[in-house]
Amino acid sequence: MPSFKTTIFADADAVADAVAAQVASTVKSHPQLTLGLATGKTFRQIYDRLVERFREGAFSLSAARSFNLDEYVGLPPKHPASFTAYMDDVLFRHVDLPAGAARLPSVAGGGSLAECAAYEAAIEAAGGIDLQLLGIGRNGHIGFNEPGSSFDSRTRLVALTDSTRQANAADFPEGESTPPSAVTMGIGTILEARQIVLVATGAHKHAPLQAVLSGIPDADCPASALHNHRNLHIFADEAAWSGIKI
Ligand code: F6R
Repeated sequence: MPSFKTTIFADADAVADAVAAQVASTVKSHPQLTLGLATGKTFRQIYDRLVERFREGAFSLSAARSFNLDEYVGLPPKHPASFTAYMDDVLFRHVDLPAGAARLPSVAGGGSLAECAAYEAAIEAAGGIDLQLLGIGRNGHIGFNEPGSSFDSRTRLVALTDSTRQANAADFPEGESTPPSAVTMGIGTILEARQIVLVATGAHKHAPLQAVLSGIPDADCPASALHNHRNLHIFADEAAWSGIKI
């Protein structure tokens, strides 16, 4: 049975506080959980708040595990715009998640079939994802599942659209551009998470958010696949929510 809940806040700051509080309390009550983690601008603020809560002693990640949604192909691991560097910078180096317990898709082999299959197998061996954190692209992507992705897709090598490459270009040093490809968990992989927290802030997230809520599956908007998830909680701000029709 699809089941979703929406909570709307005045602005992105209030959303970040609420998402961090929700993650902290879920981890506190279920310390051995497996988290699915997202990157992106939306999540910087959320991880900042989560780290504050960790420092206040609200929870520990010492028994948890995590799997990130995606990673660019072709960047050295230490590249400042890699999602590996992002996660170290905003979360991993500040909390007690054991080093070997935090994984991102391996891209050392260029996103080979074997690397992607190994990531799926590792998620399965961990018992699946308990809580998946998700942002949403302005074109409706989730993870790096771009428009046209199959709703039962699994972890794989994907080509990024021009719109996604432009949206992320500011993360790259001058003279460099967003890589053309990445490895992402599939939509099918994401939908298997027991609980999904979807975060949408800013007016540019209004249209993809409307697609999630309309209930009409549309391959042109991968996020629309979330509508039928059995445990989806949407956190949005007024700018993304204003004018939404359910
Ligand atoms: C990041 C990811 C993407 C982002 C999305 C929104 O790991 O998978 O789907 O969540 O592109 O990014 P921001 O928050 O930068 O607008």
